[in-house]
Amino acid sequence: MSTIKRQQIAAGNWKMNMNYNDGLALAQALVDQNPANNGAHMVLGVPFIHLKGVADIIAGADHIHLAAQNCSEHEKGAYTGQISVDMLNSVGADYVILGHSERREYNAESNALLASKTDRVLAAGLIPIFCCGEALNIREAGTQNAFVANQLQESLFHLSAEDFGKIVIAYEPIWAIGTGVTASPAQAQEMHASIRALIADQYGDEVAEATTILYGGSVKPANAVELFGQPDVDGGLVGGASLKADGFTAIYNAFPAE
Ligand code: 13P
Repeated sequence: MSTIKRQQIAAGNWKMNMNYNDGLALAQALVDQNPANNGAHMVLGVPFIHLKGVADIIAGADHIHLAAQNCSEHEKGAYTGQISVDMLNSVGADYVILGHSERREYNAESNALLASKTDRVLAAGLIPIFCCGEALNIREAGTQNAFVANQLQESLFHLSAEDFGKIVIAYEPIWAIGTGVTASPAQAQEMHASIRALIADQYGDEVAEATTILYGGSVKPANAVELFGQPDVDGGLVGGASLKADGFTAIYNAFPAE
């Protein structure tokens, strides 16, 4: 039995919600509730224009970290409307969510593009939260493990073991996102264990044991305790339920006691 304690993370993905003032008020409420929990990170995945304002608000709260929801695969230059990793670094982001299914679907982000973005994020010293997960028809066909394995293979397995050791994975079955249907704790655990086994095959047990794997898809205060209590579930990536301070604090406090 390994003694590695993986980084536990409750990450909120605000998506395209909250105007600037509402976003700052939410961040301030989360700071004021001050729920620091045994080394776990609370991560706020906010729209680009909120980053600096939220960074200033959370500056004194060591357990709260900042994530962008996307970045450019390019370093800099003539890419109108894009945001570089250097820009994210300069406003205090720690994490970058990559490959969310909404970006894969609406912005045609491919596994190959996400490999480039992952490299870019790591080179900047930021931590990718790499999203993977299958649509309902794939789950119904029973091929979800192979589908997710291919996503990891094509976007991440070119990394060195050292670089892979820096990333966070988020398993987000598309059929559970924003639907109110949550993967059962057993379904989440089964996929997380399968992902960890793939990582072990590629990089060895030590890297696999140390990799934080989050579950996303209708995580709520009412189901977080059971989900986070699964042996291979190291936290959550939370959409709708991250938009209310009380609820998100409850989710952050759902990690099992040591
Ligand atoms: P919901 O928690 O709203 O289902 O969204 C999950 C998600 O997409 C987080 O990235």
